[in-house]
Amino acid sequence: RVRVREALGALEPAGEVKVQGWVRSVRFQKGVLFLHINDGSSLENLQVVADPSLENRDLTFGSAVEVQGNLVKSPHRMQNMELKAKTIRVVGPCDTWSFPLKRKERHPLDYVRQFPHLRCRNNTLGSLLRIRSEATAAIHSFFQDNGYVHIHTPIITSNDCEGAGELFQIEMSNEARESAEKTHFFNVPAFLTVSGQLHLEVMAGAFTQVFTFGPTFRAENSQSRRHLAEFYMVEAELSFTESLQDIMQVMEDLFKTVTNTVLSKCPHDVELFHKYIAPAQKPENFLVIPFIVILKTFFFSCRISYNEAVEILKQASQTFTFKPEWGCDLQTEHEKYLVKHCGEVPVFVINYPYDLKPFYMRDNEDGPQHTVAAVDLLVSGIGELCGGSLREERLPFLESRLQRLGLTDAYQWYLDLRKFGSVPHGGFGMGFERYLQCILGVDNIKDVIPFPRFSHSCLL
Ligand code: 4AD
Ligand code: MG
Repeated sequence: RVRVREALGALEPAGEVKVQGWVRSVRFQKGVLFLHINDGSSLENLQVVADPSLENRDLTFGSAVEVQGNLVKSPHRMQNMELKAKTIRVVGPCDTWSFPLKRKERHPLDYVRQFPHLRCRNNTLGSLLRIRSEATAAIHSFFQDNGYVHIHTPIITSNDCEGAGELFQIEMSNEARESAEKTHFFNVPAFLTVSGQLHLEVMAGAFTQVFTFGPTFRAENSQSRRHLAEFYMVEAELSFTESLQDIMQVMEDLFKTVTNTVLSKCPHDVELFHKYIAPAQKPENFLVIPFIVILKTFFFSCRISYNEAVEILKQASQTFTFKPEWGCDLQTEHEKYLVKHCGEVPVFVINYPYDLKPFYMRDNEDGPQHTVAAVDLLVSGIGELCGGSLREERLPFLESRLQRLGLTDAYQWYLDLRKFGSVPHGGFGMGFERYLQCILGVDNIKDVIPFPRFSHSCLL
């Protein structure tokens, strides 16, 4: 049995093989039956050439087939190999009449989003899922190759790392609660994780470089094109790190290395996005080649402070929905403007107001505009892609901040980390879906996940 990808890449005729997949087209030409078969291993289909006597009523677009035959050099310029069929077996017929995907149609993303259970059979989603898989592997390789230890951080936790209250609380079902005769399963309220950072910080007390890459949950407005309730976050934590510069360097290296790997492992899949998906939304990227060149050389030259960012925004001729003001969070419209202002290259914004940011960020001890050592990476079309900071490693600073927030009891364990061999450290998190949106030019974040939740009544 060979996969379509191997069959297409074969250098020599391979004798008799078996290929299994789904039919993408059936056509008769000059007394010959042509099929195109796809099995998810590549964007390209394998052409099957057969005698019309092998035709079968069930052999339609969308049906699942098993073809046995000889893999031979193809006389067509467009493909290397083709399969000369001896037998064709329809394993699972497809009712093309009611099947929502149609042959030859380039269905828009918002159309296929209505069929989360079927859309993986569409070319665009097929490419996306292969890219997503390669990018996942590339992220793991990047960290492993650079000496990081992978940590599985918990999904169920009692901490609210970001302190933003965007938590999903988990509870026993009513039935279980009645038989257990208690309210909370763990005796304390428990939530789905909003970030693995605090758990990584624990590990950073024994390993100098750690990372995690897992599902993350936030009770946020899911109507947005950049927010999901369930998404994947890549997070890294580095010990003995005293400057934001080190954190920014890792963000940049991660972005470049993973993007280069994806471009070299699935060039056709990426090209499909730049040809058919990105141009409609981003006219400036209508040339495929320059876009890829830009990605490869992506230079991260722009580094500005939050103070400078606010000045740039105040002087902008554009009118914003949210008036830029020192001490206010940068909104997506501001972030996009800053990227444009810097020439559409990724922009690092550092040193955000103390009062805006979570308790763990390191105090810059400046004033009167008091800031913390935070860094966000902003990219074209998306806004924030990564968020990170140096962590407050000094016990008295952390103690007084937690005390003011009334969190001292809950974070005793976190204070402990500052009592037993505390070192300067820092890290960041990168939204995996936003990363995919960024390199592929996809406007809606729901189009870079395997299963979009198209309606609240159907949680597939
Ligand atoms: O900036 P955030 O909130 O940072 C943290 O959670 C830190 N504790 C990470 C760390 O330092 N280890 O989230 C990090 C990134 C954002 O920059 C964004 O790309 C992504 O996660 N993100 C989301 N992506 C999709 N949907 C959402 N609702 C997201 N919220 C954050
Ligand atoms: Mg952030």
